[in-house]
Amino acid sequence: MLEEMGPGSRSPLTRRRFFEQLAAVGGVSLAMAGMDALGFGFASAATAPPSLSGGAKNTKVIILGAGLAGLTAAYELGRAGYQVQVLEARAVAVGRVQTARRGFVDTDLMGNRQECDFDEGQYINVGPWRIPYHHQSTLHYVRKFGVQLELFNNDNDAAYVYFEKGNGPLAGKPIRKGQIAADARGYTAELMAKVASKGDLDALLSPTDRQTFIDYLVNEGRLQRADLSYKGADGRGFEILPGAGVSPGPGKETEPFAFADVMSSRAWRVLNSVAGWEQQRTMLEPVGGMDMIPRGFLKNIPDGVIQYNALVDRIQQTAKGVKVSYTDGAGKKAEASGDYIICTIPLSVLKNIKMDVSKPFLEAMSNVAYAPVNKIGLQMKTRFWEEKHWIYGGHVYNDIPGIGTISLPSTGWHSQKGVLLGYYSFGGEAAKISALPPEERAKFAVAQGQKIFPEYAENFEKAFSKSWHLDPHSLGGWAEWSDESRKAAYPVLCEPDGRIYLSGEHLSYLTGWQAGAIESAWQQMAKLHQRVQQA
Ligand code: ALA
Repeated sequence: MLEEMGPGSRSPLTRRRFFEQLAAVGGVSLAMAGMDALGFGFASAATAPPSLSGGAKNTKVIILGAGLAGLTAAYELGRAGYQVQVLEARAVAVGRVQTARRGFVDTDLMGNRQECDFDEGQYINVGPWRIPYHHQSTLHYVRKFGVQLELFNNDNDAAYVYFEKGNGPLAGKPIRKGQIAADARGYTAELMAKVASKGDLDALLSPTDRQTFIDYLVNEGRLQRADLSYKGADGRGFEILPGAGVSPGPGKETEPFAFADVMSSRAWRVLNSVAGWEQQRTMLEPVGGMDMIPRGFLKNIPDGVIQYNALVDRIQQTAKGVKVSYTDGAGKKAEASGDYIICTIPLSVLKNIKMDVSKPFLEAMSNVAYAPVNKIGLQMKTRFWEEKHWIYGGHVYNDIPGIGTISLPSTGWHSQKGVLLGYYSFGGEAAKISALPPEERAKFAVAQGQKIFPEYAENFEKAFSKSWHLDPHSLGGWAEWSDESRKAAYPVLCEPDGRIYLSGEHLSYLTGWQAGAIESAWQQMAKLHQRVQQA
């Protein structure tokens, strides 16, 4: 225990023993904090960048890609004294953290060129759009660069659910999520409470536990104490709202749906949407668009470090250094050389670039799939979802093929117009819709949304759609590891091949999140720095 380590303990306190003891009493994080305090430079990977003390020893790092992983590496290594050169294929340094607002241009692999013409001040985050509170690595830079945050409403009981493939009278009708939630919970609690009170669960519950369990169910399902029945709950809403005076007075609550109808609608599938760790009920977003985060980095990276429109076609390394061949913005062949490479190019793109790495490394790279992902922003001339339906943010879950999720903005409340997310879909459904020209994608999204909101089509003004699998510099939304490739390929790619270090959301267990890109960059730059110190 700890006191053994103090003065007078029998065995001498070596550094190694000290860390072992810390780990034994406080787990790895305490040991790492201890190492950090003693200058070993291992801060908790999840919340702060590694300390890169000890000097850069005249080392040059070429960073491929100026998305969040590349920007993180460029910013941190630059501050630590490294010479840094970033080659970015796009004309801007945002990676997938793209916010479409007036003037934003996207040209996809099918040749569809879209220039966003939303009104001034309107935008849609076509890439990352929400931040969980526990992504402290992302929030580290949000804090550091003074990016303003607002709440992202990731769950709204007032929003509709719409399931057309279910059965019964609720199928194909927009229903408030809170009504499904109250009824599913209420009826389930009623069933359980009745079974428990008859003694049918006595093999599992002591008499005291039985009573406590029934109390819990009465509370959970808003049951009638007298007969343990579910008769509805005010949380599901009112037919006549309560108000002043004798009339409307207490108002009139809505009647619950029948249990069988709730079950056969299958709308209850959405009730666990925020029960996981990643998807929280209350999340965060930057005011003004997610690209405020890369913009924060850019303000803190010296001009000239990033070369834009640089298309890499060959990555070479020898025992002494690295060389990258690329075509510059003017279409001319160019080369960059240095000591190491941090390559953040998505594997979907990288596997088509000739690179001097081992066979197992190449094989590992080809074992990772990338997700087809679609989003579309629809500018609406009024915020009918707020004005007419009283829905302030959150998602309209549905089972309409190709739509996935419709989502209402968590910003600009009660202003004149708004941009809602008309679809957010993955996989084969996303691929199918992305084959349409942009105008057809918008027509499709509007026609489907009309099934839920009668005001949709008459309010629609402009659209901007993004298909990540058709973006030549991403070729997918995020990496998708199978259990097998996580075991075999992932550890190979997490280690450098010679002087080449890969980094990005794909090299994390936070795929599809900015935090994955940032934390992967932290890990790889810490490894590289350690090597430079030892060289
Ligand atoms: N992280 C992505 C999202 O929140 C997948 O939608």
